[in-house]
Amino acid sequence: SDSYSLLILPGDGIGPEVMAEVRKIIDWFQSNRGMRFDVSEDLVGGAAYDVHGKPITDETMAKAQSVDAVLLGAVGGPAYDNLDFSVKPERALLRLRKEMDLFANLRPAQCFDALADFSSLKREVVSGLDILIVRELTSGVYFGEPRGIHSDGNNPENEGGRVGINTQRYTSGEIRRVARAAFELARKRKNRLCSMEKANVMESGVLWREEVQWVHDNEYPEVELTHMYADNGAMQLVRRPSQFDVIVTDNLFGDILSDAAAMLTGSLGMLPSASLGVPAANGRPKAMYEPVHGSAPDIAGQGKANPIACILSFAMALRYSYNEGAAADELEAAVERVLAQGARTADLMGPEGGTPIGTAEMGDRIVAALSAG
Ligand code: NAD
Ligand code: IPM
Ligand code: MN
Repeated sequence: SDSYSLLILPGDGIGPEVMAEVRKIIDWFQSNRGMRFDVSEDLVGGAAYDVHGKPITDETMAKAQSVDAVLLGAVGGPAYDNLDFSVKPERALLRLRKEMDLFANLRPAQCFDALADFSSLKREVVSGLDILIVRELTSGVYFGEPRGIHSDGNNPENEGGRVGINTQRYTSGEIRRVARAAFELARKRKNRLCSMEKANVMESGVLWREEVQWVHDNEYPEVELTHMYADNGAMQLVRRPSQFDVIVTDNLFGDILSDAAAMLTGSLGMLPSASLGVPAANGRPKAMYEPVHGSAPDIAGQGKANPIACILSFAMALRYSYNEGAAADELEAAVERVLAQGARTADLMGPEGGTPIGTAEMGDRIVAALSAG
């Protein structure tokens, strides 16, 4: 069969540490399942800034556009926090998302039974939890114009004399396409979609609600659609998360709600994501996969990061970019077995404590679980 092209961008902090474990998984699938991956690797984020003076080069961008899938570790860190926005590590992520037009960001939050006691919520609240947040990723306040920090003239009523501006802007077309992606996913799951915005205070929220309803009424009338204000949604997510199946929301609300959802699963170190674009001629979308967590500067370089979010992100690549759904299931089941056997990185230490294993050992155990079938 043809080989699967993959661009690996390990990035900063714990990014390279968790990516090393994904490499072991890739090797396993090559050796044991007859898959062939054409893997290339490049710098991104602070690591690219150190070498090139920018967080991603045009060559890396072109490569990202040409492969079947991009897998990114994490970017950012204290050393780069005071750089200009145009060259900050985070800028590379935004550029990849925008230029590849990756408008649908899938952030599943699943609570593995073995971790139900590690969540900050009660076991009975999170047990069996399986929800999917679909975050709009290429528009909204992250990209709206005008933006910037300006002088406020000589306004005597403004102490400090400056204004910071960002613009929340959505077109109907941007809302409809991410709504369609969410309805499609809901249809393959429990057939329920909840859309979140703040239509009570924002015109963009009113448009969001109307357009999602329009897509429902015209194209997916059989999917059960509800609307919720995003602040109430945040509360409901921690109160009774199992009321949700698929949630669709904008770029900023989706960022915040998905971090909150992460804690339902026990740790931010567990949450994978897929960012999908418009399907190409071969029917497959442009795609980038990344853990939801960041570069975790507080634990970087210590070999104790949880690699599962990155490994599960690769599982999503198997499913959505390589059409290897059975292999994705196999990998997810191996992760679940390793957790059931009690393997825990430091972030997964529950109230009863225990001895954590390191990043590399967690990777090794998942490989062993794959081999054990
Ligand atoms: P973070 O996600 O890096 O860390 C938050 C907390 O979670 C930390 O205590 C960290 O130790 C812990 N944590 C995160 N991932 C973990 C893992 N795999 N295993 C164990 N513990 C883990 O968020 P932050 O501290 O707000 O941001 C740090 C840097 O990362 C910033 O520069 C930020 O901009 C960047 N960031 C990048 C991405 C990305 O690359 N996709 C996402 C979020 C934040
Ligand atoms: C995420 C991150 C990014 C975001 C940052 C690092 C640009 O928090 O992927 O969730 O805000 O989208
Ligand atoms: Mn985030």
